[in-house]
Amino acid sequence: MSGKVPTARIDRLLGGLGYGSRREIGQMAAAGWLVRDGVALRDASERIALEPDLPARVTVRGEPLDPLPGVAIMLHKPLGVTCSRKEGGGLVYDLLPPRWLARDPAISTVGRLDKDTSGLLLLTDDGALLHRIISPRSHVAKRYRVTLARPLSGDEGAVFAAGTLMLDGEDKPLLPAELDVVDSHHACLTIHEGRYHQVRRMFAALGNHVEALHRDRIGGLGLPDGLEPGRWRVLGPADIAAVFA
Ligand code: URA
Repeated sequence: MSGKVPTARIDRLLGGLGYGSRREIGQMAAAGWLVRDGVALRDASERIALEPDLPARVTVRGEPLDPLPGVAIMLHKPLGVTCSRKEGGGLVYDLLPPRWLARDPAISTVGRLDKDTSGLLLLTDDGALLHRIISPRSHVAKRYRVTLARPLSGDEGAVFAAGTLMLDGEDKPLLPAELDVVDSHHACLTIHEGRYHQVRRMFAALGNHVEALHRDRIGGLGLPDGLEPGRWRVLGPADIAAVFA
């Protein structure tokens, strides 16, 4: 058994979590604002064991410590915000606590949703996890609820399942995808890759137009009913396992 818990200097740890410069954190400690298990940590150059329950045991100015590096969250992305600065407009990162923008390692989205797509978006500072989720080799399925401008013709499911559909400007056919028709204008589509605007382009290739798009599942992890648009929560090990289930 390895069992050895890594340690970090308090000022380095809190600096990486965006609480301020090392000097500022030193001052916060000296002022008695950093408390572990009810005892003030007055020397920020001290090393602290990075136990998983540290955020529950340490407070900063009376508030629980932010999640340690290696965090993953789910966000209910609302319509109208973007995953990339290039698109312009409000960013999904602005929905997180401002301090989180100063974290190092930085938090990034796991893949992207369009500005006009809502639903389940994962974010993490764990590069290995991010790559594991988006890697085609992981075969993590993504499920979308689709609202269409025109009625379904009835053959879309077979076309998507065939694994032969070629999108405009691409030279490799899409992997097979599963369509569950809800009614004439609504369906659930499960895809196993993440090409640019993939769902919209799939329906456009068949002469239809996606009017509304919402992702409700990544692998076996669903967007909980109670998580309102714009809200987020930290994922636990069981949630991560569900992504790959
Ligand atoms: N497919 C799209 O067209 N848009 C998304 O945001 C996600 C998948």
